[in-house]
Amino acid sequence: MLNLTEEQLAVKEAARDFAQMELKPGVIARDSTMTYPHEQIKKMSELGFMGMMVSPEYGGGGMDSLSYVLAMEEISKIDNSCSVIMSVNNSLVCWGIETFGTEVQKQKYLTKLCTGEWIGSFCLSEPEAGSDATHQRTTATDQGEYYLLNGTKNWITSGGTSKVHLVIAQTNPELKHRGINAFIVESDWKGVTIGAKEDKLGIRSSDTHTIMYSDVRVPKENRIGAEGFGFKFAMKVLSGGRIGIASQALGIAAGAYELALAYSKEREAFGKPIHQHQAIGFKLAEMATQIEAARLLVYKSAWLKDQGRDYDLASSMAKLYASDVAMRQTVEAVQIHGGYGFVKEYHVERLMRDAKITQIYEGTSEVQKIVISRKIVSGK
Ligand code: CAA
Repeated sequence: MLNLTEEQLAVKEAARDFAQMELKPGVIARDSTMTYPHEQIKKMSELGFMGMMVSPEYGGGGMDSLSYVLAMEEISKIDNSCSVIMSVNNSLVCWGIETFGTEVQKQKYLTKLCTGEWIGSFCLSEPEAGSDATHQRTTATDQGEYYLLNGTKNWITSGGTSKVHLVIAQTNPELKHRGINAFIVESDWKGVTIGAKEDKLGIRSSDTHTIMYSDVRVPKENRIGAEGFGFKFAMKVLSGGRIGIASQALGIAAGAYELALAYSKEREAFGKPIHQHQAIGFKLAEMATQIEAARLLVYKSAWLKDQGRDYDLASSMAKLYASDVAMRQTVEAVQIHGGYGFVKEYHVERLMRDAKITQIYEGTSEVQKIVISRKIVSGK
């Protein structure tokens, strides 16, 4: 596992080159103006980054999860708006449809999601159901031929641009989480309204929106899995999604570290490069060690998934740890840069702002601790 294959190394290099050459030049401006990276996502689609793990039969790259993690890590060193759009499209939407969808759903949706013609969103969170995901207020009432969907979803990544929404909704409240269903909904269907774009602390050029569904007719064939499978679907999809966000967090930490290390060699104070001062050298040592530990957890969770083994515990551990490392070490990277770290030009302040969301979305750090503690206590 510790030796990457030639193919995996090639993916990592391609992602690194793309991020450095194509994403870095405009990333500060896009972040400042909250400009959606249309051109960049188009290029990422052309390079195969939007449907990396999907079978070639449906237009995907047919790659393993580790290759996806390597690409996420490199792109997240530079542009986390692009990497969150990529992550949701790959590990929530494409993986969810490919693993649990019907052949018709796969043919219709995956082919376009992989080419970037359509972008996907995962619509689970609600104004009053974030961490407590079983308490869905959005309803999908069975009308025979179709379901009637009503409710509001919050914090939806790609909410302004996505064509494909995976919506989680309650059909039978008496059955609690076993009455929940998952649906594929298209953004241009009657009754779908996209709310205003959120003005966020980080990942500012990704478009996060509230979405309202009002009497939307969802055909029966757009339900994913059997009646009542929706909550388990969401949990399974999120378990893999957490590998994607953990790799984003890893990339943020590693990107900030690379910048801090380079700066510490250029910048002199008290007559020598600042890395020669123990105060800075110790910080760099801590950063490098924690990032390497996070990397091992993230790669392990991807490897387990590729082996067809249980990865729920590993992905929550990876996300919990990597997101904490991202937050802690981006603060340190700003500190190493001193005043320069506080201005946009040096990139580390953006990475510090981006780091925070990795402790929140796809399950807060507290949710990861719930998952981990239940797993270790039950031994399952
Ligand atoms: N796989 C399969 N089934 C699972 C599962 C998994 N990984 N985890 C739980 N389940 C099943 C359980 O077995 C149980 O089913 P049964 O009763 O039939 O046995 C059912 O789901 C309910 O499980 P719990 O009792 O554990 O549920 P809970 O109410 O205690 O909540 C939770 C558990 C872990 C806190 C869960 O609600 C959760 O993960 N919350 C966070 C939600 C989240 O991550 N939201 C992110 C939004 S998406 C996003 O951020 C995308 C983006 O745009 C970037």
